[in-house]
Amino acid sequence: MNLQLFARQPIHTTMPLLLEHSTWTQHTPFAMYLVSLLRPSLLVELGTYRGTSYCAFCQAIKELNLDTVAFGIDTWIGEVHTGEYDHNVYEQLQAHHEPLYGAFSTLIRSTFDMALQHFADGSIDLLHIDGLHTYEAARHDFETWLPKLSDTAVVVFHDTNVRERDFGVHRLWDELCPKYPHFEMTHGHGLGILAVGRKPQAEILELTSQTEEEARYTRSLFHQLGWRVEIYQELLALRSERAALQSTAELHHRVWSYRPIRILYYYLTEGVRGIARRAMRQQSESDQ
Ligand SMILES: C[S@@+](CC[C@H](N)C(=O)[O-])C[C@H]1O[C@@H](n2cnc3c(N)ncnc32)[C@H](O)[C@@H]1O
Repeated sequence: MNLQLFARQPIHTTMPLLLEHSTWTQHTPFAMYLVSLLRPSLLVELGTYRGTSYCAFCQAIKELNLDTVAFGIDTWIGEVHTGEYDHNVYEQLQAHHEPLYGAFSTLIRSTFDMALQHFADGSIDLLHIDGLHTYEAARHDFETWLPKLSDTAVVVFHDTNVRERDFGVHRLWDELCPKYPHFEMTHGHGLGILAVGRKPQAEILELTSQTEEEARYTRSLFHQLGWRVEIYQELLALRSERAALQSTAELHHRVWSYRPIRILYYYLTEGVRGIARRAMRQQSESDQ
């Protein structure tokens, strides 16, 4: 791993501005690090959904002041693994994305196949494949987008470490690894980095040619950085829950310290007690 770059550009310690519930959250530090390593001219993501991965890429592009042009492609209607979802998902992402990243990034609402025509052959430097996760779909996405990749291109696959239901990215990953330099992170459902271009950058080769010990260290480091993001996300959720509880308690206190309310409460409870006492007395009289 390029430790010099790692120390000089600590973008991977930046907290993501967009924190959605996603299995991708744990990989956001690595996404940012990868952008700083690769400095892609053109970045494309297949499968953007709520934008966890895509906005991490975009945030790094912006913070590193790169000239990258980026595209996030999705139908924003879902598929069998995510389930069908609401139109709001796209609108909420647009509302976050547009003001921050609209100058260099575009969300394309289309199928992956339909979007292919917009990209020239040999143009994409960083392709993230995160659509439907069956073997057939992942393979189709890889093969159809392969001609679009540049000489230095890197492809990122999510879910390389999921071996349940009909998830088949791990099968495709096992087939591709012998053909290209690669590196896999096993946490967060697995993230595979494949140096597909004919002339991979030296920094990428440094990542893919680590010794077993170095690779273990890199995996553990990014796993911990990923946990840090999730813990931060949890902290924000707890803080907003606490703020909501505090304002309910404050409201309760304010209402209760208002004297007419306490007097009204006294007469109401006393009235109810009186009715109950009377009913019990009548009951015992009729029993005798
Ligand atoms: C697993 S989600 C993406 C997760 C996202 N990268 C994140 O960071 O949370 C997969 C997305 O791919 C989209 N998708 C799957 N197959 C597609 C296709 N052929 N064309 C367009 N979108 C597709 C779905 O609509 C869904 O939103």
